[in-house]
Amino acid sequence: MTDTPPAADTGIKLIVIDNPPVNSLGLAVRRMLAAEFAAAANDPNVRAVVLAGAGGRFSAGADIREFNDPGAIAELHLSDVIDRIEALDKPVVAAVDGVALGGGLELALGCHYRVAAANARIGLTEITLGLLPGAGGTQRLPRAIDFARAIELITSGQMVAASDPRLAGLFDEVTEGDARAAALDLAARLISDGAGPRRLSAVTIEPGPAEAALAQARETLLPSPVPAMAAILDCLDDAIHADIRTGLAHERARFDQVVATPAARALRHAFFAEREVGKVPGLTAETPTLPVETVAVIGAGTMGRGISIAALDAGFQVKLVDANATALERAAEAIERHYRTMVERGRLGETEARVRGARLSPTADLDAAAQAADLVIEAVFEDMTVKQEVLRKLDELARPETILATNTSTLNVDTLADATARPGQVVGMHFFSPANIMRLVEVVRGKATADSTLATALKVVTRLRKVGVVAGVCDGFIGNRMLEEYLRQAYFLMDEGALPQEIDGALERWGMAMGPLRMMDLAGNDVGWAIRKRRKVEQPDRPYSAIPDLICERGRYGQKTGAGFYRYEGRKAIPDPEVEQLIREHSASLGLGQREISPEEIVERCIYALINEGTAVLADGIALRASDIDVVYLAGYGFPRYRGGPMHYANEVGLDAIVAAMDRFAQGYQGQFWKPAPLLAELARAGGTFT
Ligand code: CAA
Repeated sequence: MTDTPPAADTGIKLIVIDNPPVNSLGLAVRRMLAAEFAAAANDPNVRAVVLAGAGGRFSAGADIREFNDPGAIAELHLSDVIDRIEALDKPVVAAVDGVALGGGLELALGCHYRVAAANARIGLTEITLGLLPGAGGTQRLPRAIDFARAIELITSGQMVAASDPRLAGLFDEVTEGDARAAALDLAARLISDGAGPRRLSAVTIEPGPAEAALAQARETLLPSPVPAMAAILDCLDDAIHADIRTGLAHERARFDQVVATPAARALRHAFFAEREVGKVPGLTAETPTLPVETVAVIGAGTMGRGISIAALDAGFQVKLVDANATALERAAEAIERHYRTMVERGRLGETEARVRGARLSPTADLDAAAQAADLVIEAVFEDMTVKQEVLRKLDELARPETILATNTSTLNVDTLADATARPGQVVGMHFFSPANIMRLVEVVRGKATADSTLATALKVVTRLRKVGVVAGVCDGFIGNRMLEEYLRQAYFLMDEGALPQEIDGALERWGMAMGPLRMMDLAGNDVGWAIRKRRKVEQPDRPYSAIPDLICERGRYGQKTGAGFYRYEGRKAIPDPEVEQLIREHSASLGLGQREISPEEIVERCIYALINEGTAVLADGIALRASDIDVVYLAGYGFPRYRGGPMHYANEVGLDAIVAAMDRFAQGYQGQFWKPAPLLAELARAGGTFT
């Protein structure tokens, strides 16, 4: 933290927040601010103050780690510091560059004037952490900008550029130049004009339009599983109706309530888990990586298309290769259609769409594509022999330094790598469908994968604006290995008479973006069928319910055939009496189906199955840490973020309670599957948690 004494000739005191990397507002910074502003108040030479952040970043807000330490928060509350700044009887100008997020923006709102760099990212992001702005944001932002825009920003947690028209009224000046220099200029002008402080807390809000906007927000946003949402709307109501002191007091009380809720804990966990996931033992900033500009994608099916779009969006040159001319033509058309739709929907400018489209070269010439590529991603049919053959060929054709990635979802990456003479340059890159949308990529480190190969793959994933999670080699890696147990339970529940809509309904109400059976209908039941057939041979002691096979035998492969566990009108899943009858008959043939199965049991059986297998994945070293497993499920499987991921959720429920439930399930149908993983049993016994 640095501050500069006022130059005797300017009368401006510059106060700089200097707390790398993001100038978060931990206790030490708050103490510094309180002391510096008190000094400014007492120093007759100071006639104005400029508040800035070091390193080109104003402030990313409260120190999120401090939320687990209520003592530090209470010792000197940020909102008290901001109140003191606002109360200063000399003008204070915020110089906003880089970021002003959460408490950082609230700090700027407490200043009397604000200057911003046009590209600074601005937002009250607290809701993304399950919080509400707790340092005056709900009271001051709606006093600075249009009320409806304030609702939108606070309830979405969006970051927008300082130049965004939605922020009109927030800044006195938005500059393409240096925000600090512009703020110092403004302070000098304020002094020479004899201008005094200008406080947002003195502004009143016109009730009519604000009330209407708030009523509409309540309608669309409530009920919400995140308690902070209702609290935010109540605070915004205060902003209209209560005096600022009352509004600020209520805001703080509500903040203290929500910060301790499970949703806030889970969202904080998710924030740090997503940052931790990039830290891979053995890799450092010095690990060499291969510069990748041209990517060859082999196979023009659904996966190949999605991967191609993601790569085009990220600025790579893409060679999409398929020997089948019709498949290639269809894929090229589909990609072109995708960009046309983006333009029609206003998501992409016409020129940009053209530029992206022009980077694509569909080709049947594997030789030339492999020669041109820095990275080849094969996305051919999920079959060991087929993939080995493709990799063998690629190994012969590609330049020696080229990295070969396989988009397998279940196959052994070591066996695939052995098909080549460059196993060190073979890595798994398991994308999730639709690959241009889903954020997750499991980056599979084979036994021979070189550090530089892994680092390159992770770098490419980051450039694709996706989350790369490092996984070890096993059947299904992290996500699908766990999913297998989740699905097994969903199918067993049908054996016992539960209907697809009951299973999906229970899990969707609990928070999953899509229930397991709708998900399988979307992914294609034939894919799971092929995997089950393979596993029946490989793992004869792990039986499945017969129901998904019976469904497949009727040609019900899911959405693509218009019927699966449901029948489909377009994308709409409709419960189907034919499936209900199939389930009833099958259930009766097993002597089951008489028992009422509660939604709680459905959720517990499916989610605890995930957790148990997740523990095994962790113990086997397939995932580096429990929070990586959470990232996989949050980014790739529609697990509710406000529950933090399966392993965090397990900690919240209590591992002993989970083991007790598993012991109970072990007494029921197919109870042999309920064996707590040794690590789970051990942690539960010791009263431990996943860390
Ligand atoms: N508190 C504590 N640590 C933070 C932090 C914060 N507010 N913001 C970032 N960090 C840490 C990250 O954990 C990371 O640490 P490691 O290097 O140890 O992993 C480091 O700072 C760098 O962060 P990123 O890797 O995310 O860097 P980036 O350049 O990609 O992104 C950012 C920078 C946009 C600021 C991003 O970090 C971010 O979105 N931070 C959170 C901002 C936020 O939501 N603030 C609101 C806090 S809540 C609040 O302020 C409540 C209130 O009302 C008072």
